[in-house]
Amino acid sequence: MKKYGLIGFPLSHSFSPAYFKKKFEDLGIEDCEYKAYPIPHIIEVQKLLDEHVLGFNVTIPYKQDIIDFLKEMDPCAAEIGAVNCVRNIDGHLYGYNTDEYGFRMSLLELIGDSFDGEALVLGTGGAAKAVFYVLKELGIPYNIVSRKQDCLNYEQLTPEIIDRYKLIINSTPVGMHPHNDECPHIPYEGISENHYLYDLIYNPAETLFLRYGKERGAKIKNGADMLILQAEKSWEIWNQP
Ligand SMILES: NC(=O)c1ccc[n+]([C@@H]2O[C@H](COP(=O)([O-])OP(=O)(O)OC[C@H]3O[C@@H](n4cnc5c(N)ncnc54)[C@H](OP(=O)(O)O)[C@@H]3O)[C@@H](O)[C@H]2O)c1
Repeated sequence: MKKYGLIGFPLSHSFSPAYFKKKFEDLGIEDCEYKAYPIPHIIEVQKLLDEHVLGFNVTIPYKQDIIDFLKEMDPCAAEIGAVNCVRNIDGHLYGYNTDEYGFRMSLLELIGDSFDGEALVLGTGGAAKAVFYVLKELGIPYNIVSRKQDCLNYEQLTPEIIDRYKLIINSTPVGMHPHNDECPHIPYEGISENHYLYDLIYNPAETLFLRYGKERGAKIKNGADMLILQAEKSWEIWNQP
């Protein structure tokens, strides 16, 4: 049996084990399994090596901690500073960031390849770092909104500022299940039909952030495609010759 998996803690509502189970069933793949490994400390990643797990995804809180265990890191993951996909070759671990691929491809589905506006990114966490990398790669200038002092903060935002940034990306967990009735504190009245709103959250499918954007005519996208795209990219990496 070829083993794959996911490390993180806790791992109660993870997408990937169910996704890969269905993928293996649909494709008639009988010699592979994908399991959740909820490890309370990163040092327990050794358990996956002992079990000869060939590839695994990494989620909160280990996307940075795993770096110390790698033999090599893909340049994109190194620049982002986070790893969410690891390949095990003969006991040596190689790290990648497939969130970057998932976000890039799904963002392009939303904005097409001729977007020439500016972006506003909400949040500065692990997911936001992949967002910054992609925007830089695509040549889209961006500004950041954060609760920290050294960035644009939520209190400073006006409808005029919101009008200026035609792409707004929520990379905070605000509005995620079970807090469906919350949304980032931005002046939604500045949003128009010329805006694109992208929310990395996939549960609920339509966050309040996206709903307010849609009500003002903006084009919207949630994080569901990103999730699938990063999983498929991981599978591709684990199966490279
Ligand atoms: N669709 C996908 O494939 C995918 C992949 C990865 C992540 N995600 C989603 O992306 C979101 C962020 O993930 P993450 O790993 O980056 O999370 P995180 O590190 O826990 O948080 C991201 C940032 O959000 C801001 N934030 C947190 N709580 C906030 C609050 N109450 N009010 C305002 N801002 C707040 C913080 O930025 P500041 O301190 O700068 O304000 C924080 O650094 C989550 O909902 C996650 O599920 C989706």
